[in-house]
Amino acid sequence: MEPRVTRWGTRFGFYLAAVGSAFGLGNLWRFPYVVADNGGGAFVFIYLALVFLIGMPFLIGELMLGKQTGSAVIPAARRMGKEPGAKEAQGRGRYISMRLLSRSGYLAIATCLMILAYYSVISGWVLHFLVRFSISALWAGDFEPNSVLAILLNNGWLQLLLTFVHLLLVMIVVIRGFEAGVESWVSKLMPVFLIMVVGLALRSLSLESSAEALRFFLYPDFSQLTTASLGRAVGQVCFTLSLGFGTMVTFGSYMSERVSVPVAGFRVAIFDSLISLVAGVMIFPLVLQSLGQGVAPTLLFESVPFLFAKEAGGEWVGIIFFFCLYVAALGSSIGLLETAVANARETSKMRRSTATIVSALICLFIAVVPALSTSVLRDQKIAGTPVLEAWDGLLVNWILPIVAVLISQVVLLRIDQSHQKEEFESVPVMAMGRLYAHWRFAIRYLAPALCLLGLILQLL
Ligand code: PHE
Repeated sequence: MEPRVTRWGTRFGFYLAAVGSAFGLGNLWRFPYVVADNGGGAFVFIYLALVFLIGMPFLIGELMLGKQTGSAVIPAARRMGKEPGAKEAQGRGRYISMRLLSRSGYLAIATCLMILAYYSVISGWVLHFLVRFSISALWAGDFEPNSVLAILLNNGWLQLLLTFVHLLLVMIVVIRGFEAGVESWVSKLMPVFLIMVVGLALRSLSLESSAEALRFFLYPDFSQLTTASLGRAVGQVCFTLSLGFGTMVTFGSYMSERVSVPVAGFRVAIFDSLISLVAGVMIFPLVLQSLGQGVAPTLLFESVPFLFAKEAGGEWVGIIFFFCLYVAALGSSIGLLETAVANARETSKMRRSTATIVSALICLFIAVVPALSTSVLRDQKIAGTPVLEAWDGLLVNWILPIVAVLISQVVLLRIDQSHQKEEFESVPVMAMGRLYAHWRFAIRYLAPALCLLGLILQLL
């Protein structure tokens, strides 16, 4: 195994990359559409509760696993139970669970690649809008949001081409090396984007529909919930906080000694949730009429462009918005590919460039299905659901929570309790001892139980 050399020099560098990975299409594209699809405010309420009950404990656990072992998820898990005399020392039951859990890293990386595949397709959609806005701004053509979207959806090969371009860009950044790539991009553009999303949310609030939209988005009407809601909220929490992929384990392994794991987990989770909420405020007033008529993953692309198309010079705002959104998608995709590459390099002798190219090619190959889902495969249904939604639902609502639970148990069994405790006690705040006990309870019982309940209820 190659020794680890990559470490973020600064605390700021770590935060930028972790937030850059968490903040992405999950907040702006997926969150609003899942909320709309699940009845609004009551779902948001459950989602926010789960950020605290599941998201934070798991996030802290994954970062801790990376930081303490200094390695990516596959090698971190793989050695479990392999210590000489482990069987005798641990007792048979614990030994068997350790050996089973030791494989969970592979599942995480398989999930990571499958998700990167369709994440790249949606990133390609963003690219398409960016290009179309640029064309109308530069050549003064009309921007017709509906027809721009229709061109994209009807043309699967165009989507595949855009996916290819996206993966190529991601590959270039990852081959160049992680630190240099992500840090500089994210640090320059994230503030611009945040200001922009807040500005657009304020603009949306001035629309007539805003009062009713906010009611839908924030007022918890629990009669809107179904048995599947809990599982969907669990999935969204894992997706948006990058849990169950091994990504946060890799980030933890690059973390410097000085960064506190619990504080980092807390901040990243809060910041990410705030962005999702602002995205909701931005989007819901624009789509009020279509809510309740069956929402599709195209929601973001059917709503926000109208905000720009209406106004003079709106194309330029459109360009900036989709450019920033694209960079956010790029940051997340880099995190996903980097996770696969870090694992490949630590478990084999593969060079960074080879590992990157092989992983990206696998993704491109898998991406053919989601890329064709709105055209060639439009009439295909999986259990009554269109292909893209079925793909997204299976991975995010079922597989991610399972992998996240498995990794959380690796954390508990792999890291000495004294080291777990130290991570909390290194923060000079009085209540940290108690917080450690809460964290252990959450990661051991509460969060896995909630995930399991969510899965079971989805079956009904
Ligand atoms: N959290 C990202 C988002 O919300 C998705 C992601 C998952 C990115 C895993 C990196 C790793 O869009």
